[in-house]
Amino acid sequence: MTGICKGRVVIVTGAGRGLGRAHALAFAAEGARVVVNDLGVGLDGASGGESPAEQVAAEIRASGGEAVAHGGDIATSEGAASLVHAALETYGRLDTLVNNAGFLRDRMLVNLDEDDWDAVMRVHLKGHFLPLKHAAAHWRAEAKAGRAVAARVVNTSSGAGLLGSVGQGNYSAAKAGILGLTAVAAAEMGRYGVQVNAIAPAARTRMTERTFAETMAAPGAGAFDAMAPENVSPLVVWLGSAASEGVTGRVFETEAGRITVMEGWRPGPTADKGARWEPAEAGETVRKLLAAAEEPGAVYGT
Ligand SMILES: NC(=O)c1ccc[n+]([C@@H]2O[C@H](COP(=O)([O-])OP(=O)(O)OC[C@H]3O[C@@H](n4cnc5c(N)ncnc54)[C@H](O)[C@@H]3O)[C@@H](O)[C@H]2O)c1
Repeated sequence: MTGICKGRVVIVTGAGRGLGRAHALAFAAEGARVVVNDLGVGLDGASGGESPAEQVAAEIRASGGEAVAHGGDIATSEGAASLVHAALETYGRLDTLVNNAGFLRDRMLVNLDEDDWDAVMRVHLKGHFLPLKHAAAHWRAEAKAGRAVAARVVNTSSGAGLLGSVGQGNYSAAKAGILGLTAVAAAEMGRYGVQVNAIAPAARTRMTERTFAETMAAPGAGAFDAMAPENVSPLVVWLGSAASEGVTGRVFETEAGRITVMEGWRPGPTADKGARWEPAEAGETVRKLLAAAEEPGAVYGT
């Protein structure tokens, strides 16, 4: 196998279906050996029997690639540690971690149960942190032992994390948290040769095919299938390869044939009194600043 990931070992979480599956196949097509993780849960995280991870690993092997399945829960220490261990034990190294696994429990905030909050925060935010922590510990040890590290982490946020999304308070908060985690991980891990970026994708998967049926629909034969999950994977593969040297701490929106660099939070109009404001005076100043500021992007669903 040749390709931009030849010789690299890549973990993709939640790679039994949807975007993760497309990433795993795309990495393998570029020469990577892939650890295909998936717990095999339902759309809302309820346990769903068989993990589809083995099917995807078999699909990669059938087309001449190398892959191994891992069926653990990435939101537990044990699952995350055993995932990193699986890469090291099977292939003797780890180069790239793609954090992708997750599920939804959509409700308006007033109806959102504590359980739905916890489950979604857990799978996305903790499910990013734990594999990252275990992989980072390995890469730091490699760097300290004097071995060259060109490691890559690709995290998965969402437009919901960037702008907010009505009915997805838990998911939006978790996906925004992933952006903060990405910035910190990039800053902390750069010295060990680890680059950390995030994507906000959009594609037709079981997560979106019903809610956004019209936007996600496949076109007629011959036309570009804009919302196919495979369209998101090329950027993920490049970010996960050694070729992305120097790119870290960035967030990209990606869907169809489009890649957008998100420019994030930055200071807008500002005022400094050099002393404490009176509340009414602070309000008057804020009104003036807002009049000079850019409007924020609309929250999805408004
Ligand atoms: N599809 C989109 O348009 C879209 C948009 C923005 C963000 N995302 C994000 O992309 C990622 C992939 O979503 P998708 O659309 O492919 O959904 P999907 O449901 O098709 O795939 C997610 C996979 O993650 C697995 N999973 C869930 N919990 C797990 C756990 N604890 N451990 C291991 N595996 C687990 C599931 O079994 C499933 O196979 C998610 O983080 C999602 O929030 C998707």
